[in-house]
Amino acid sequence: MRIERVLLKDYTTLGVGGPAELWTVETQEDLLKATEAPYRVLGNGSNLLVMDEGVPERVIRLAGEFATYDLRGWVGAGVLLPLLVQEAARQGLSGLEGLLGIPAQVGGAVKMNAGTRFGEMADALEAVEIFHEGRFHIYLPQELGFGYRQSRLPPGGIVTRVRLKLKERPLEEIRRRMAEVDAARKGQPKRKSAGCAFKNPPGHSAGRLIDERGLKGLRVGDAMVSLEHGNFIVNLGQATAKDVLELLKRIQEELPLELEWEVWP
Ligand code: FAD
Ligand code: EPU
Repeated sequence: MRIERVLLKDYTTLGVGGPAELWTVETQEDLLKATEAPYRVLGNGSNLLVMDEGVPERVIRLAGEFATYDLRGWVGAGVLLPLLVQEAARQGLSGLEGLLGIPAQVGGAVKMNAGTRFGEMADALEAVEIFHEGRFHIYLPQELGFGYRQSRLPPGGIVTRVRLKLKERPLEEIRRRMAEVDAARKGQPKRKSAGCAFKNPPGHSAGRLIDERGLKGLRVGDAMVSLEHGNFIVNLGQATAKDVLELLKRIQEELPLELEWEVWP
């Protein structure tokens, strides 16, 4: 186990966030120790807005035995989803294609029920192992309250492993589906971001609504509404959480949108 003081901006895709104590856990024993005091769990930091002041709790990151996988058995929650999507395709296993392009860890994808209109994480799950109250528990997906970009995990629950529901399919079919998802993502920016900032209101696209209001290019410091997609806030370089919060506020003054990101603390 490694315990170190870090700046969370180095651990989030938006590149924003202050200091914290990072606990990188590699074994069950590490996890037991790390959870003895108040904690938060970090996945790949791709849906987080972390304040410039950082967070007071321990920040737990899964590595070691929690980052190994067998696509036909248990998959560690610390494994990167993009790796799994490619590896499943290579093995001729279908079920993850809709998740192409989501830069999550498996655990973060479960917690957020990450997805696209081609499929979401919950659809690909057979079972989920969650550590809480000092023990590992196995859940069926229907017990976890999955909805659009949401789940109901037990309080303090840390997803540690999952079993996936994958089917053998011809490689060309899997590749064709992946190409379709890739094409649907073409309009998304390549700059530092945390994906879509807001949830889509039922029947609408938040990105389109922001675009139609003429808010693309709106900027506070180095935080800017992407010129490519209205629902992405990009970090042009040195954005702070304060900049991003102010920009979110200005958008929400114009449109009643619900934040998709999680704000720490
Ligand atoms: P983090 O951002 O690190 O954490 C998010 C939440 O999950 C936190 O509450 C955290 O505590 C919790 N968490 C993390 N790991 C665990 C664990 N093991 N156990 C319990 N809780 C945990 N999202 C989509 O849904 N669809 C998209 O198409 C999409 N595209 C994106 C494109 C880009 C370029 C980027 C930057 C982001 C995109 N996102 C998308 C957002 C993001 O990738 C997802 O929300 C993803 O699920 C976050 O996973 P993470 O591992 O990065 O979690
Ligand atoms: N549009 C605009 N202007 C914009 C952005 C979009 O006119 O600035 C239009 C598009 O042309 C399209 C429609 O709005 O006709 C929908 O846009 P898009 O296909 O990009 O989908 P979205 O609803 O904006 C959702 C998810 C994305 C996911 C894509 C692909 C949400 C909040 N967003 O975006 O997820 O990648 O579909 O399936 O549900 C995320 O959640 O972080 C995320 C990136």
